[in-house]
Amino acid sequence: MIASPELYTPRTRIRLADEVDAVALLRYRADNRVHLAPWEPLRDASYYTLDHCVRTIAEGREAAAQGRGYPLLVLDPDGETILATFTFANVVRGVFQACHLGYGVAAEAQGQGLMQEALRAGLDWAFGELDLHRVMANHMPRNERSARLLARLGFEREGYAKRYLRINGVWEDHVLTARTRADD
Ligand SMILES: CC(C)(COP(=O)(O)OP(=O)(O)OC[C@H]1O[C@@H](n2cnc3c(N)ncnc32)[C@H](O)[C@@H]1OP(=O)(O)O)[C@@H](O)C(=O)NCCC(=O)NCCS
Repeated sequence: MIASPELYTPRTRIRLADEVDAVALLRYRADNRVHLAPWEPLRDASYYTLDHCVRTIAEGREAAAQGRGYPLLVLDPDGETILATFTFANVVRGVFQACHLGYGVAAEAQGQGLMQEALRAGLDWAFGELDLHRVMANHMPRNERSARLLARLGFEREGYAKRYLRINGVWEDHVLTARTRADD
């Protein structure tokens, strides 16, 4: 069975994407192309097609079924519009019980506390139902919004990695942060 959260916050609804979400995902990608590009891997034209969205959703469900990762949609309360996305990726069990967290909010929904609201619910689920001990999130030094968000969520700086991720075509330094569960 897929561990699949159905989370509700005052302004959002959070769940794994389903095939029927492909059109909404394509709209989210297209509408936020310029907004997200500086913070993501280089995307070629195929990324902005329905086929690619269908494939992404299928791969995401497969990852969740295998317990490897959980790419989640943050929808409006009606479940129609994608406001944001976040992913618990690279889940490692054994003595580590950890994952990486990636996220982004729609340009129109930025600056309203929505990402924070959704991630609080997501992190409760990750530390609770998923039983993780550590969630790691990394940001480029110049991504001040991301740094503020992580600090508000209780992530602490653990290091600085040079040329860490290839973002928008360039190997970028990253600040490494993490939050660990205190009660396990
Ligand atoms: C990083 C990112 C998710 C942050 O989004 P955000 O909307 O600033 O984050 P939050 O949900 O925490 O919102 C906080 C902002 O909303 C404001 N806000 C307004 N209403 C609010 C409310 N009801 N509750 C809380 N905050 C509220 C806060 O004052 C804060 O603004 P400030 O930081 O200028 O003071 C967003 O900038 C983004 O998607 N960037 C592109 C992708 C990206 O960088 N991803 C991460 C790569 S590491």
